[in-house]
Amino acid sequence: MVVLLENPLRVGLRQERMPEPQILTIFGASGDLTQRKLVPALYDMYLDRRLPPQITIVGVARREWSHEFFREHMRQGVEEFGGGLRSEEVWAEFAQGLFYCSGNIDTAESYQKLKAFLSELDGTRGTRGNRTFYLSVGPSFFGEAATQLGNAGMLGDRTKTRLVIEKPFGRTLSSAKALNRTVRSVCKEDQIYRIDHYLGKETVQNLMVFRFANAIFEPLWNRQFVDHVQITVAETVGLEGRAGYYETAGALRDMVQNHLMQLFALTAMEPPNSLDADAIRNEKVKVIQATRLANLEDLSQCAVRGQYTAGWMNGKAVPGYREEDGASPTSVTPTYAALKLEIDNWRWKGVPFYLRTGKRMPQKVSEIAIQFKEVPFLMFQSAAKQANPNVLALRIQPNEGISMRFDVKMPGSSLRTRSVDMDFRYDAAFGNPSSDAYSRLLVDCMLGDQTLFTRGDEVEASWKVVTPILDVWDHATDPDAIPKYEAGTWEPAEAEFLLNRDGRKWRRL
Ligand code: BG6
Repeated sequence: MVVLLENPLRVGLRQERMPEPQILTIFGASGDLTQRKLVPALYDMYLDRRLPPQITIVGVARREWSHEFFREHMRQGVEEFGGGLRSEEVWAEFAQGLFYCSGNIDTAESYQKLKAFLSELDGTRGTRGNRTFYLSVGPSFFGEAATQLGNAGMLGDRTKTRLVIEKPFGRTLSSAKALNRTVRSVCKEDQIYRIDHYLGKETVQNLMVFRFANAIFEPLWNRQFVDHVQITVAETVGLEGRAGYYETAGALRDMVQNHLMQLFALTAMEPPNSLDADAIRNEKVKVIQATRLANLEDLSQCAVRGQYTAGWMNGKAVPGYREEDGASPTSVTPTYAALKLEIDNWRWKGVPFYLRTGKRMPQKVSEIAIQFKEVPFLMFQSAAKQANPNVLALRIQPNEGISMRFDVKMPGSSLRTRSVDMDFRYDAAFGNPSSDAYSRLLVDCMLGDQTLFTRGDEVEASWKVVTPILDVWDHATDPDAIPKYEAGTWEPAEAEFLLNRDGRKWRRL
């Protein structure tokens, strides 16, 4: 249990501010993300009065929907996937600012039509030319949409227009570089918001506060004391009807290059000089640039893929990946990936960072575990009959919190030890659950704060780390060769071996 001291330190990456009145245009508005995440997050903020009354949201997609239909569809999203309407009156006000404009992502006329519509809305809604464009479309359309917006003259005003781009940003290092060039040819880096929703999670932001607002951890945070680090993002969900996207992405592009690399960078980076967006992003880039796969000569020693087969989840039979709707029966798309990374710098040389992520794992759990070195000499008898290294576990989700494992004397006349956990839980300390990551990120972007968004060089550096694996996995087409794991179980045996050969084990969570 954690007792909150008086006047808890209000450490924030930014103070609460209200964005300027503006129009948020969402491309791909008929998709799941808009209905399940973006609009419910925007509505929650509207309810909390964190958005100005003039906030205007324009959905763009190919389907011919009316404003009314769009509003109704979004209302369902808020009710089903968000926090609920809570007030008919507030919903009615908010819904007045929801509009829909049908259009094709690749035809110039659609952008002219949109441009005229946005200008009209400036007049009726008082949005003063402030624009945020959100590309929630298939990754292969990011470049096209940015170019068309640029050609239509909609990104010209650097102080009033922003472009938000979903992930994955590119498919490999070279395509990420090409996409950066395309996007930068129509706007400046300070207008580009490459979104990674993990950075909006409260517990991810807490990583920096935990490391740099406490004096006791940082002196231990290095190769002298840390044996290794394990970063896990395990999910229970399977494909969820997203075959069209996932078959071309796989675990490495969907999760590792972005979410896991961000967790990694925040854990391993040096302290920034300030909370300025670039000061933080410079440190993240620096550590990612110093990172490589542990064995570039033999990738099988440092990267393992896997794919789930049919199994049981919570007492229910679930299909294997290849039997999911839309997946190829001979698919080699990995739904699991584990990597061993090394960092060539003074702080971390020789300390492996093991990263793993998978779908259809037995539990949804994301955590960063720092395992410290063993004591040099153990003079006590341990109940576990071996030394129990200290572990600091930062639980990103669920059961958000932090725990520290250490040994204590077991009661009794003999000097026997046992490991116990000292636990901090967000819900016990602060009561309310953390707000949705998208809320935080959408507000930041409308405020023009890039701290929690990935800079162009950062995205390239992280592609550079994973591209050697993609070069091999993308060409490994033998369906029998991909290691399998049953849905509802942890990693394939090959991934166990990744650690076992180093004399280590994955944490059982
Ligand atoms: C998304 C991935 O970025 O993150 C999904 O595309 C994944 O495949 C999701 O399920 C996980 O997010 P969270 O916030 O539930 O951990």
